[in-house]
Amino acid sequence: MAKTALQFRHNGRETATFVEGGANLLMVLRDQIGDMTAKFGCAQGGCGACTVLIDGEPYLACLMLAESVEGRSVETLDGIRSGPNLHPLQRAFADNFAAQCGYCTPGMLMAAKALLDRNPQPSRAEVVEAISGNICRCTGYEPIINAVLAAASGGRARA
Ligand code: FES
Ligand code: FES
Repeated sequence: MAKTALQFRHNGRETATFVEGGANLLMVLRDQIGDMTAKFGCAQGGCGACTVLIDGEPYLACLMLAESVEGRSVETLDGIRSGPNLHPLQRAFADNFAAQCGYCTPGMLMAAKALLDRNPQPSRAEVVEAISGNICRCTGYEPIINAVLAAASGGRARA
């Protein structure tokens, strides 16, 4: 099958690859770019495990045609740390026991980051709305909501 050249910014770095027509962004990130932080869950838009930010907005990578990110910025969990330092959301998730098996955590963190980047002091209802597309089978959601609110109240969510 003919492949198409694709260039985009991956966590701030220019990246180039070739993709097959119809390839989704999740598989390109995982299989071709080597970024395994976006998780393969349902592959049909129902769980949020594959959430990434495209030009700062959350998208489900399993439903995105890879070619649609040509020239755009794609941010994954792999890019939110600052050197050896955890992002405030990562620290808050650890402090609030917001991860158990951890499979949902990358998607949760990216959905939460999108929220805090545009609304650094969200209400509880806004946090719930922001993560409403992300399924967690372990935590019961309360620790996750508390962690996002804790990161927001720390005022460092834009780090
Ligand atoms: S893997 Fe994309 S929404 Fe479930
Ligand atoms: S921590 Fe296991 S699915 Fe969320």
